[in-house]
Amino acid sequence: MQTIEIKGNKTSKILIGEKLENLENYLPGKNVVIVTDENVDKLYSHKFPDFPKIVLGTGEKIKNLSTVEKIIGHLIDLGIDRNGFLVGIGGGIVCDITGFAASVFMRGIDFGFVSTTLLSQVDASVGGKNGVNFDSYKNIVGNFNQPSFVICDGNMLKTLPLKEIKCGMGEVVKHALIADKTMFEMIENNYDKALSLDDEVINELVYRSVQIKSGIVNKDEKEKGERKKLNFGHTLAHAIEKHSTVSHGEAVATGMLFASKVSNHYGFINNNDLSRIENLLNKLQLPVKTDVPVESLKEAIQKDKKKNDKNIDFVLLKNIGEAEIKKVSINEVKSWIDKFL
Ligand code: GLY
Repeated sequence: MQTIEIKGNKTSKILIGEKLENLENYLPGKNVVIVTDENVDKLYSHKFPDFPKIVLGTGEKIKNLSTVEKIIGHLIDLGIDRNGFLVGIGGGIVCDITGFAASVFMRGIDFGFVSTTLLSQVDASVGGKNGVNFDSYKNIVGNFNQPSFVICDGNMLKTLPLKEIKCGMGEVVKHALIADKTMFEMIENNYDKALSLDDEVINELVYRSVQIKSGIVNKDEKEKGERKKLNFGHTLAHAIEKHSTVSHGEAVATGMLFASKVSNHYGFINNNDLSRIENLLNKLQLPVKTDVPVESLKEAIQKDKKKNDKNIDFVLLKNIGEAEIKKVSINEVKSWIDKFL
């Protein structure tokens, strides 16, 4: 097992290679409540420690304030007090909701995660962003608050559909593109092993992703500067997600190629690197195009929650492995949509 620490508002230990079976070692002896979803419950509840559990439905539609209210109702019924501990066992949706519910219940109780999808192991469950959607606005209600621990159990990835692995690889590629050229080369050379969950390759990619993300969060927990680099590809991705059922990792792939084309247009990455990025996304069977009409994308970008007045911090690639944040006008982004999509 490898441990990476994030020193944010609390110290958060990311435990890569730890097992669900050892979860109890990280929990207090009482006052613990498990939050999970139907799928994870069906597959893994026999390995859960013996604490009360709240089983949620699945999908983005449950990631809202009424689910948080339900959890809080259960916690009150169970007599959980300020010493309570919430443990989310699931993917990004379960972890985001659990972290937020724990953060607001009794002004905040401790919490930890067992992260069960590749996407949540390499991104969503790491770094202390918790929250839910409101209307069609993704993650618009939330906070920064670090989980005490995140268990990334590689064995739990083995029950995921291939589509989930591909989506997780979208965020893995993002980390390589913004921060680590050698990791990008490693993915180019091992994309097939990654998709088939070769233990050594996937463990290395999870470790390196968490290392990159933790390094950035340690410098800028509240996303005032450096952390914005983690939004590479996400401006377009969020607009695609708003107008389609495309999953996050797929939308990020399309958004990354778009941002790479813009980077190339500004004379940053060269044509060869642009082709390498497109080839790798293709090999990982991730979409590089979108069917969402350009007018809908532009409207979503106009309403992007990360925009500041008429500008947006857009992440460009200087090179493979090096990102730069550029403040650009919304109108400029709209013109790129016309040009590159
Ligand atoms: N997923 C981007 C971040 O955690 O900042």
